[in-house]
Amino acid sequence: MIELIKSDLKKYLSLDRYNHTIRVSETAIELARIYNENVEDATIAALLHDYVKCLDKKHYREIIRKNNLKIDSVIEKNIGLAHGLISAYFAKEKYKIENMDILNAIEYHTYGRPDMSTLEKIIYLADYIEPGRTFDGVDDIREMAKKNLNKAMIMALESSMDYVKSMGKEVHPLSIQALIFMQKEV
Ligand SMILES: [Fe+2]
Ligand SMILES: [Fe+2]
Repeated sequence: MIELIKSDLKKYLSLDRYNHTIRVSETAIELARIYNENVEDATIAALLHDYVKCLDKKHYREIIRKNNLKIDSVIEKNIGLAHGLISAYFAKEKYKIENMDILNAIEYHTYGRPDMSTLEKIIYLADYIEPGRTFDGVDDIREMAKKNLNKAMIMALESSMDYVKSMGKEVHPLSIQALIFMQKEV
């Protein structure tokens, strides 16, 4: 399965996106070992998280409509946010992945959500801190990710929401809810 997905990724992703995906999978494996999560599940979720990222955005609405996928008004306005949802759809339909934890980790890796599972947090963070990321503060989140997953999630959500706002875009309400939820948990 993992080798099949990797060879497909070479066809569907740009070299930059492929290399990012491999780094996300390596980071996810490292975190899965620390937090006693299934390494194979983490690898599969990481490999498929950006599966449709290189697909032309005009196809997103078509796939959403044809397959009756549900999107909210924020995603409607910023359709790129649907790449997790659509990648999860392909994981299920093309690779026959039924494990909801893997599918959710793929779907919610961009904006998060309240009450995330350990695997969901691992994929969200691995995407955020893989070695190719260079933004201010990334090293602090990298260090925290190895010590406390929830605290690292708070740092990553805050940083990501600041970035979205600085780009003049609307923060997804699930990110805000995720942050409030995790602040209560730690
Ligand atoms: Fe992504
Ligand atoms: Fe990514």
